Amino acid sequence: MRWVIWWNILIALYAPTPSEGQTATPTICEEEACRCDSFTRVICSCTKELEEVTLRPQGAYRIPPMTTGISIEGCHSVTFLQNTIRNLIQLRTVELKNISNIVIRERALDWSPFSRDSEMNPGIRLTIENSTVSEIASHSIQGRIDEVLISNSRIINLRPFAFSSLTGVKSVEFINNDFNNIDIQTFKKFASSNFIIRGGTIRNLPSRFLSDVEVTNLFRLDGVKIKYLSSLTFLVTAPKRILIENNVIDTIEGDCFHMVSRGPITFRNNSVTALNKGALLGFSVQREVIAVMGRQELLIDNNTITNLTPAALMYNQTDLTLRVDGLNLNNSCTCELAEEWHDVYNKQGGIINCWYDLEGYFISLPTFVSIRCGTFKQTFWIFVAVGVLFIVLAAGIAIFFIVKKENEKKKKLQIVLPDGKTYKETEFHVIVERAELLTTDL
Ligand SMILES: *[C@@H]1O[C@H](CO)[C@@H](O)[C@H](O)[C@H]1NC(C)=O
Ligand SMILES: *[C@@H]1O[C@H](CO)[C@@H](O)[C@H](O)[C@H]1NC(C)=O
Ligand SMILES: *[C@@H]1O[C@H](CO)[C@@H](O)[C@H](O)[C@H]1NC(C)=O
Ligand SMILES: *[C@@H]1O[C@H](CO)[C@@H](O)[C@H](O)[C@H]1NC(C)=O
Ligand SMILES: *[C@@H]1O[C@H](CO)[C@@H](O)[C@H](O)[C@H]1NC(C)=O
Ligand SMILES: *[C@@H]1O[C@H](CO)[C@@H](O)[C@H](O)[C@H]1NC(C)=O
Repeated sequence: MRWVIWWNILIALYAPTPSEGQTATPTICEEEACRCDSFTRVICSCTKELEEVTLRPQGAYRIPPMTTGISIEGCHSVTFLQNTIRNLIQLRTVELKNISNIVIRERALDWSPFSRDSEMNPGIRLTIENSTVSEIASHSIQGRIDEVLISNSRIINLRPFAFSSLTGVKSVEFINNDFNNIDIQTFKKFASSNFIIRGGTIRNLPSRFLSDVEVTNLFRLDGVKIKYLSSLTFLVTAPKRILIENNVIDTIEGDCFHMVSRGPITFRNNSVTALNKGALLGFSVQREVIAVMGRQELLIDNNTITNLTPAALMYNQTDLTLRVDGLNLNNSCTCELAEEWHDVYNKQGGIINCWYDLEGYFISLPTFVSIRCGTFKQTFWIFVAVGVLFIVLAAGIAIFFIVKKENEKKKKLQIVLPDGKTYKETEFHVIVERAELLTTDL
């Protein structure tokens, strides 16, 4: 008897049998909405209303350690608790789709299972689609992440360092999202091949939104509606290509882009209400690139900007060449505006347009100048006025002198002849003749 009891105690202490483990602590595979397939993927698909799924690293309903993928769809609420995926060494994908409320807690998606950082190690692909993300907490996404793709979603809170200390990232992409609150330093200290925000709306992009981020291939901001871009929003190094296209932006603060590029920079087809002084001054080029390929081009093409002075187009002349291919100044054309921009369009030779109220479209400043305020046209009427004044004055002076002279003549030419009679100028010639006659007679 005693022997049997000791044996049972030993078993209980050192070797809980599989069956005991399973019955004692069910995994997420036993959640009502979830199942685990033969590829050790966790698949949750909520069908009931207000159904919630919580992802946890330990305890009841934990995620099994050999899980390779997590896929959740259609739930009312999904919460990732702290360190949810830390020990899931086989994990490769996390997919969330059509979820009303996603919460990613601190360090929930922190994944660094390999002792040495290497891009050769496999990484995780995180996708969120058609969902509302209530919060991505500080430090919640870290480690060996391959790819982040968030699309057609509402992102309510992005906390500081939400995406930080990532390694081996190939791409971070946000497509058609509506961002509500974004705290400073959202993306901190990592390298990614591509960083893309395309479509959707953003209220404020704070200072250091991207801080100390290396983008080795493409940086793209495309078709986004943004209210405010702060100073030092993008602290980015190394992109081969920078594209800022098709955006509608209320304000771009000075020194917004603090980017060291390895290639050309294109600022095209954006509609900007206020581009503040020095907004583009923070673009520069890596020294090695300049040494090999020379200065890179900063292309300003087909943008419409309302509040803009030439000072806003200041750029780093040691690193970049500026080409202005199309710039609509959303201001009524005036000769003063043309004067203000004269140097720029003379130097750039590009097309700078102003709004021609009379016709209701944009025309190029030189064209406006030539039809409304060319040097000739502007001074023509002055010439005319001065000319008329001159003629009037000259005529006046002439008349004055003629009259005066006439009066003087009248006085001088009153000649007293020997016969004692006085003759007037009109009678002068007659008198001379007579005088001659007189002398010959003498
Ligand atoms: C999205 O989820 C809701 C429940 O939150 C569900 O009613 C709807 O059918 C789902 N749509 C798709 C396309 O999955
Ligand atoms: C997106 O989610 C909403 C509600 O969550 C759902 O009604 C809609 O069908 C979903 N659309 C797609 C394309 O999944
Ligand atoms: C230019 O940008 C606007 C948004 O400002 C967009 O609607 C339009 O499609 C863009 N044009 C091209 C040719 O991309
Ligand atoms: C140029 O800008 C105008 C006004 O924003 C837009 O309608 C047009 O599509 C743009 N063209 C190109 C080629 O981007
Ligand atoms: C231009 O960029 C270089 C770095 O590439 C920097 O040292 C220099 O101060 C910048 N010039 C201006 C005017 O910002
Ligand atoms: C141009 O300016 C007017 C008012 O000054 C504004 O209503 C309009 O939206 C502006 N257009 C663009 C494309 O910024």
